[in-house]
Amino acid sequence: MSTNTVVDRVYNFSAGPAVLPVPVLEEAQRDLLSLPGCGASILEISHRSKQFIAIMDDAESRLRDLLAIPQNYKVLFLQGGSRLQFSMVPMNLMRGTGKPAEYVVAGSWGNYAIQEAKREGETRVLWDGRESNYDRLPDLNKLDYGDSAYVHLTSNETIQGIQFSSDPDRDASVFISDMSSDFMHRPVDVRRYGMIYACAQKNAGPAGVTVVIIRDDLLDRSDDSLPGYLNYKSHYEAGSMYNTPPTFGIYMVGLVAKWLQEEVGGLANMYQRNRDKAKLLYDVLDASPDFYQGHAQVSDRSLMNVTFRLPSDELTKEFIEEAAKHQLDSLGGHRSVGGIRASIYNAMPIEGVEALRDLMIDFRNRHAH
Ligand SMILES: Cc1ncc(COP(=O)(O)O)c(C=O)c1O
Repeated sequence: MSTNTVVDRVYNFSAGPAVLPVPVLEEAQRDLLSLPGCGASILEISHRSKQFIAIMDDAESRLRDLLAIPQNYKVLFLQGGSRLQFSMVPMNLMRGTGKPAEYVVAGSWGNYAIQEAKREGETRVLWDGRESNYDRLPDLNKLDYGDSAYVHLTSNETIQGIQFSSDPDRDASVFISDMSSDFMHRPVDVRRYGMIYACAQKNAGPAGVTVVIIRDDLLDRSDDSLPGYLNYKSHYEAGSMYNTPPTFGIYMVGLVAKWLQEEVGGLANMYQRNRDKAKLLYDVLDASPDFYQGHAQVSDRSLMNVTFRLPSDELTKEFIEEAAKHQLDSLGGHRSVGGIRASIYNAMPIEGVEALRDLMIDFRNRHAH
C-alpha cells in the first residue's frame, strides 16, 4: 500500500493521538455505515451483540498472536488512559502486600506514575535520571532491588525520547511496564513482565482505550474493597464488559493489529522498519552535532520519539514553519522540553521520515556556518 495517496494527508509527527495506518482508516471508513453483514456501524451496535463480541475476541486474539502472549496472561480493554493505570497499578498490586513499590524514574511519565503511587503507599525510587535532565537510562541489571510489590518502568519516555531496547531479565521482581508509546513496536518477551499497559493513541489505535496485559496470579492481589471500576478482577471477571467498553477503540486496535499481521508481517518486521526509519534521522544528528543537538544519549535513543534542538529558538521556529510548508506536521517538542520532537510510530511511513531527513539536511546546509 503506498503511503500518502490520500489527498490532503500530511506526514503527521504528533506524539499522540498520532498517525494511523492508511489501510486501517480506509477499512474503518468503508465500514462506517454498516459493518459487513451487520446493517449498522461499529458506533451503533450493542457491546453485548454477537458482532461486537466477535470484534473484541478478534482484537484480543490478534494481540495474543503478535506479542505471543502466554495463556496465563489476561488481556483487558479499559478506559481512563494510561494515567488511570498510574493509580490502578498501586491500588491493585501494592495494597495489601505490605511491601513498597519500586519505580525507575527515567523521564516525565515515570515521574507522573510514581506521584500517583505515593498516594497509595510506600514507594522506593530505584533510579532517577533527573540529574542528567532525563537523557539516559540505567542498566536494569545493576539496580539495587529490594523486596517490593513490583518494579515499575516506562519502556519509552515519550517526552524526552529515551527507550529501553530490551526486556528486563530478573526473576525475583515483578516488572510492570508502561508501554504506552512503544507498544507493539518490536517483539517483547511478555513473560518478563507481570503486567504491561498501553493507551492506544500512539501506536495501537485512537484515544479512549487502554490495553492491559496482566499475569493471572496478580489478579488475586486486587482487593474487593476497591471501587468496581478500579479493580482489575472486576474487569477480568466481566470479560472487559464491567461497564460499556470503548467499542470503537477496541475495533480500531483490532484493525491496527490486523495491519501489523497481514501488511507488515509481524513485529520482527515492524522492528526492522522502525530501526531503519529512526536511523535516517539519527544519522543526520550524528553528522552535524554542532547544528542538531540530540537530547538522548546515543545508547538510549528512542526509535519512536526523536528529540533534538537547533542552535536557537528562532531557528527552531523557522524549521517548524518550513516543515509545515512541506506537509511535515506537529514537530514542536513537548512544552516542557522545547526543540523538536519527531514521533515516528509504527504507522509513520518511511517516505515521511525521508522527507523530514531531507529537510533537516537542506536546512542545516542553509543555516550552519
Ligand atoms: C509513556 C506514557 N505514559 C502515559 C501517558 C498518558 O496517557 P493518557 O493520556 O492516555 O493517560 C502517555 C501519553 O500521553 C505516555 O506517553
